[in-house]
Amino acid sequence: MTDRLEYRYDAARRLIERRHWEMLASSLMSARDEVLTDVALSHAGGTIPVERRPIDAGFLRLPEKLLAEHDQEGDASLLGRIRIAAEEFRERVDRVVLLGIGGSYMGARALFEALCHPLHNELPRAARDGTPRLYFQGDNVDNDAIRGLLELLATEYDAPIERPGRSERPGRLAGRWGVTVISKSGGTLETAAAFRIFRDALETRFGIEEARKLVVPVTGETGRLRDLANAAGYPHVFPIPDDVGGRFSIFTAVGLFPAAVLGLDVVALLEGAAAMNERFVAAAIGENPVLDYVAVGRGLEEDHGLHIRVLATWGARLEAVGLWYDQLLAESLGKEEQGPTPITVVNTRDLHSRGQQHQEGARDKLITNLYVERPATEPIPIPTAADDRDGLNRLAGKTVPDLLAAAFEGTNRAYAEADRPTADIILPRLDEFTLGELFQMLMLATVTEGRLIGINPYGQPGVEAYKRKMAEILKG
Ligand code: PA5
Repeated sequence: MTDRLEYRYDAARRLIERRHWEMLASSLMSARDEVLTDVALSHAGGTIPVERRPIDAGFLRLPEKLLAEHDQEGDASLLGRIRIAAEEFRERVDRVVLLGIGGSYMGARALFEALCHPLHNELPRAARDGTPRLYFQGDNVDNDAIRGLLELLATEYDAPIERPGRSERPGRLAGRWGVTVISKSGGTLETAAAFRIFRDALETRFGIEEARKLVVPVTGETGRLRDLANAAGYPHVFPIPDDVGGRFSIFTAVGLFPAAVLGLDVVALLEGAAAMNERFVAAAIGENPVLDYVAVGRGLEEDHGLHIRVLATWGARLEAVGLWYDQLLAESLGKEEQGPTPITVVNTRDLHSRGQQHQEGARDKLITNLYVERPATEPIPIPTAADDRDGLNRLAGKTVPDLLAAAFEGTNRAYAEADRPTADIILPRLDEFTLGELFQMLMLATVTEGRLIGINPYGQPGVEAYKRKMAEILKG
């Protein structure tokens, strides 16, 4: 057991021809160089050669950059300002509505579901450590969902803050809510329409002056949301750097501001990402989780036609991480009639729905397990019962994690017996550091695979098609 993320892939590698693996190993070195060239070009800020455009490679060095600035400038650094604004926001509201879509919300949702209490929003404020409830909108155009949230926000139900050393008036924040609106372009219709609706509700409820303090925009340096924010005079507006693409933006204010509002350790998150960068840049194939992961995916796709990449998350808390990855892989590599198809499953839940197909269906899938070795909370044992008609006394004393471990091991063995390849991403525990490693590993793997197969992983020209048609229809 180590303290770092581990990628175990022996079961999958056995199915890749040895010569092919060696070829992949050498091409991956060149693909890594290309990724680093992208970073250098992005950083230099000069003209990007036409064949490489667009490049949004700024994500790669962002963790180190933010951490270094924070070390040098403290509260005046971007990270420092994010933390201060988050603290202020936390003290002002008990419910936060995060408006955003795609890369502008999936990372925050993944962090929320993975690291906060599984029933965070149901808990009284004291049990949430004084952090607000979090709701997501602007990620769809769903009248009933928007209406439902507006109705909820109109109710007042927060409990008093009961923390030692604090003398809050009971219910001080009852019914107080705010919005963080996140859009790099500032023009995405789903988010923009939701912002208008929720801003209107906020101003109606609290008045224009007060509502101003309850909105925190995160947006690009230019665009409609930036203009609107400047005109409204919101006290905090956080930038999304030009050279960081939406689905690569989890370590900008897009992910960091909501994470800080939720009281998560954003420094540890960035440290985990920086640690993965180090391994990516320095380690040879065989010890480099990023390059090994790409080699396995490519090797099996090219040797055996396994073009479906199943990310099997174990336990419910990682499902949103899987959805974040679905977007990352699909939007980055799903171009020029190429690119693997990502699918997220949650086990053991989905062993009872998709498991049959994974065991005996078409041989087109590589299954990558995402497994956490230790639960965040005390393991729950199966109690002994006087009435053993359910036959479970034989398991008494075993814990829920023991059952999950048996299911994980058993499923891998069953797949192996049927020559169904699996690989495992193992997190020693689920916390900010290991998630930082994981997000960075998957982003690096995606861009490296893109460069390996000659697909520009940045940009998403295909997404524009529906937007244009939708705009035409709305114009009439
Ligand atoms: O990866 C991307 O760039 C996209 O998925 C965007 O994040 C998404 O379309 C939302 O865009 P915006 O942040 O401009 O509202």
